[in-house]
Amino acid sequence: MVRQPTREDRFSFGLWTVGWTGADPFGAATRPPLDPWEYAGRLAELGAWGITFHDNDVFPFDADETTRDARVGRLKAAADDAGLVIEMVTTNTFTHPVFKDGGLTANDRSVRRFGLRKVLRAVDLAARVGATTFVMWGGREGAEYDGSKDIYAAMERYKEGIDTVAGYIRSQGYDLRIALEPKPNEPRGDILLPTVGHALALIAELDHRDIVGLNPETGHEQMANLNYTHALGQALWSGKLFHLDLNGQRGLKYDQDLAFGHGDLLSAFFTVDLIENGFPGYPDGPHYTGPRHFDYKPSRTEHLDGVWASAAACMSTYLMLAEKAARFRADPRVREAIAYSGVLELAEPTLAPAETAADLLASGATGAVDNFDPDKAAERDLGFVHLQQLALEHLLG
Ligand code: GCO
Ligand code: MN
Ligand code: MN
Repeated sequence: MVRQPTREDRFSFGLWTVGWTGADPFGAATRPPLDPWEYAGRLAELGAWGITFHDNDVFPFDADETTRDARVGRLKAAADDAGLVIEMVTTNTFTHPVFKDGGLTANDRSVRRFGLRKVLRAVDLAARVGATTFVMWGGREGAEYDGSKDIYAAMERYKEGIDTVAGYIRSQGYDLRIALEPKPNEPRGDILLPTVGHALALIAELDHRDIVGLNPETGHEQMANLNYTHALGQALWSGKLFHLDLNGQRGLKYDQDLAFGHGDLLSAFFTVDLIENGFPGYPDGPHYTGPRHFDYKPSRTEHLDGVWASAAACMSTYLMLAEKAARFRADPRVREAIAYSGVLELAEPTLAPAETAADLLASGATGAVDNFDPDKAAERDLGFVHLQQLALEHLLG
């Protein structure tokens, strides 16, 4: 039996996940919409710790100040009553047709100015409800046709937009960090910042780079045929893993947003292993300490009961994998296989302390000091398959 999730597990859900009514490009909604505050109580009952939302998950695009205020107040009160934290807020800069060519990188300057105002207002909203992460997913920042977008200008405007938002957070003294969410495509043919690596490269160019990090999503990296766990690893190494969107994806197709673990299960195992246990060679190294946040869609075949069952499934799968990952790490056979495979050796610097490139070269091609024999070194067996099989045994066992 899997244990029940508790607040200490820090599971959180986007209101747009359980709130998805099933409308897709081919068909109408299959479930009725609830009011945003109706989701809060139910998620708390299931054991969630937090919720997240877009501005327009709570009030309509054209809401006046009074409506906006009243609806946000009502959601905040419901979250407080249920004991839920509102840990992250984000902006919808994709639904309204005005954003058809982007929010911060639209060719039309008046749209960019409007988009930036909408994002800044969502930052105020995030601070008001006590969120500590502000996600920026630029779903419409991109193009279908290469001739339609000046990529140099688009990168300039993206940097300008993010730095303006980060500078505003600073000037207001808000306790907020920005997390960029990469995605390769959908809804645009090609989206800017398609992968974690692209986003890290943009962050390095920002004036306010210290408060800008990442919100990598499982399916988004996998849609680009990339390894999600590696993406998390590099983001952690860079000190930029601020937030997560966990879900499931099976292969190179549209963004499936399946429940966590319902895509590549072995990959999900190693994702949880990294989040929970960190890097094997660096026990005191970086660990992810943020929320375990799910961004998935309960399939449109399900009734409302199925929505709650799918939210429970995300948490329960995570907990099962966490338990299995802990056993995997503690298993003496695994420790032995890890040692045999040289996994821990990689943490040792290649050069000796104070050794220079010239010192290294001075010992000759094969290295008088190392007494290195390439043919002998090539004979080494690494046992990676055995290690992987042990992981599989733990996963299935
Ligand atoms: C998607 C994205 C979004 C974002 C959300 C928060 O593919 O639609 O994952 O769900 O995560 O807009 O910024
Ligand atoms: Mn997605
Ligand atoms: Mn997402």
